[in-house]
Amino acid sequence: MRPLALTTVLLSLAGTAAPQAIQFDQGRKIWLLKTAENSYAMGLDAQSQLQHLYWAGPLWRIDDIPAATVKSDISSFDPHQMIENEEFPGWGGVRYYETALKVTRADGNRDLVLHYASHHIDGDQLDITLKDIRDDIRAVLHYRVYPAAGIIARWSTIENHTPKAITLESAQSATWYAPPGDGYRLSYLSGRWAAETQLNQEPIHEGMKVLESRLGHTGHNLNPWFAIDKDADEEHGGVYFGALAWSGNWRITVEQTPYRQVRVTGGFNTFDFSYPLPPGESLVTPTFYAGFASHGFGQASRLLHNLEREDIAPGHPNSRVRPVLYNSWEATTFDVNEEGQKALADKAAKLGVELFVMDDGWFGKRNTDNAGLGDWFVNPQKFPHGLGALIKHVNDLGMDFGLWFEPEMVNPDSDLYRAHPDWVMNFPGRPRSELRNQLVLNVARDDVKEYMFKALDKMVSENNIRYIKWDMNRTFGEPGWPEAAPAEQRTLWVKYVWNLYDIMARLREKHPKLEIESCSGGGGRVDLGVLRYVDEYWPSDNTEAFDRLRIQEGYSQGYAAEFMSAWVTDVPNMNSRSTPLQYRFLVAMQGALGIGANLNKWTDEDVQLATKMIALDKRIRDTVQRGDLYRLLSPRTNDTTANEFVSKDASEAVLFAFRHSQQYSTTPPVIRLRGLNPAVVYKLESIDGKLVDTQTEMSGAYLMQNGLNLKLVNDYDSTAVVLKRLP
Ligand code: GLA
Repeated sequence: MRPLALTTVLLSLAGTAAPQAIQFDQGRKIWLLKTAENSYAMGLDAQSQLQHLYWAGPLWRIDDIPAATVKSDISSFDPHQMIENEEFPGWGGVRYYETALKVTRADGNRDLVLHYASHHIDGDQLDITLKDIRDDIRAVLHYRVYPAAGIIARWSTIENHTPKAITLESAQSATWYAPPGDGYRLSYLSGRWAAETQLNQEPIHEGMKVLESRLGHTGHNLNPWFAIDKDADEEHGGVYFGALAWSGNWRITVEQTPYRQVRVTGGFNTFDFSYPLPPGESLVTPTFYAGFASHGFGQASRLLHNLEREDIAPGHPNSRVRPVLYNSWEATTFDVNEEGQKALADKAAKLGVELFVMDDGWFGKRNTDNAGLGDWFVNPQKFPHGLGALIKHVNDLGMDFGLWFEPEMVNPDSDLYRAHPDWVMNFPGRPRSELRNQLVLNVARDDVKEYMFKALDKMVSENNIRYIKWDMNRTFGEPGWPEAAPAEQRTLWVKYVWNLYDIMARLREKHPKLEIESCSGGGGRVDLGVLRYVDEYWPSDNTEAFDRLRIQEGYSQGYAAEFMSAWVTDVPNMNSRSTPLQYRFLVAMQGALGIGANLNKWTDEDVQLATKMIALDKRIRDTVQRGDLYRLLSPRTNDTTANEFVSKDASEAVLFAFRHSQQYSTTPPVIRLRGLNPAVVYKLESIDGKLVDTQTEMSGAYLMQNGLNLKLVNDYDSTAVVLKRLP
């Protein structure tokens, strides 16, 4: 193996061959996973335990990595098992940290000690099979290396090859280790409805921090993303980061042990988790993506964004850039009808909108949120000609048509509930807690899944629907599944999500042009699991532009601008704040631009500005959606927010800047750009003359070293500058 590794390196240095992403040192039993940005290693010790060995910047020489060794006990209270960085520990022996797998056998025996059994390398994927020291219970650890993206995906398959059933009580995707040490800091995203993805940073001390959802969906309260650093900022310093791809109950624990280990374990939430595995069956855990960036939080985000665009989201690289969308919700709420929607569509088309989405209210007896969910047929009073006439009108105006659904829900006042009261999750004889007057269908049931698929498929087959806004407006309650055998009932948490993904996958397969937006009362379903099936997320029901700056900043830590639906809505907004229309547009143009305002109320001046802004969006959206994001000034720490997007070849860039409120006539900060080509000259176009600098052509070097001065004077002032490389 060693000469081959050296040859590979030399070839790759000469630029004649792609470097080998996975290497194995047969003699010393070490695996080295390599990407352009980082390397990851593990090895077997003399007892055949798989130990984590290295995770940091890129390595090229496997010989440098010392073999895994069995350590000595420190005391009878500090066994060696606790000190070794076991890559995927089972709960058994003397292990007291968060383990990756916990089982109970039919006879009550719960001890599980996993040792290496075999491995297999296939291109960029490595599978290592661990097996219990006595029984044929296996954990197959999957590692998929994304050499260009700088990310490794890990997940596991738990297999029962014994003749008796076992029950899984914890099935994690991976345990990750930062290099042993103190002084680490955890970054994570928390919030609540209408205030999602707020960035938190706190020191990691001994003990455990749990990030999780017990809500059934991904959740507004915590998002399955984390980052760990010591002293990094946007541009500098090492950052470990990861995101768990799961839209149900998830859990990420961040733990510092007394031995200075920093461990991150993630997968299915262990809360109320119990998954029976009959003989011959297996369970696959969600994918946990993670990476290490040497150049700060900015690079960590860009690596994730690249991975999402290149390897996770459907349709890439051939998907279209996100079109400019209009959504009727804030304009009409439930009061939709053919004439009203046509009138809005006429106005939207004139502005340059490309995708017209009718939101809630079009189906069943849906006049308020009291009734109708589950009855996915067009309301004949509101739409006497079905949806056909409206869709034709929208299409004739040159726009695609999109429609809102909330397929997982039912109102008790609906034909569906009257026919199938047993279809909702429930515990017999117990209350059925309503939230927003609705109950959650037990999507884990295959008959419910088929109903949902058929209802959506029928609507999409019979109408020219290009886009579905897939909403989910409450958390689970009383998650019972009385029809299943008692031991199976808790699998609802997992099977619900699989069935949800299955419906989306089948719809997309049958209707290849169909696009889906993931919405859950705003950002309740923003995760990399659902991103395999959707084109956009709705990050928050809070569309107030100043609040959005922070929601979007947090969102951007883990998720790319392309997938972030962002609307311009009317003021005063939900928090009573009023910001200028240009400010609202520029905030929204940092994602996939949408308009959610009541266009019937817009003045000529509003229409004029909106038309200009939408035209601008169409010029810059390739750079915003497919380029690299640089967060220049954070709304958390400055009175000015600035974000810059740079195209992959650095030939184009867009700078967005926002003044929150100034005091004492203080001048706004100078904004130093990043990510440009220092050696070329850029032409600068200010969208509104708010550039103080008088030159309109500047080198990348000057723009990055000296920066730009902007006339951001008033409260909620905003501007944008478009940069284009001169030939
Ligand atoms: C949720 C969504 C909104 C809207 C309403 C409709 O709150 O997040 O955008 O679709 O439902 O009822």
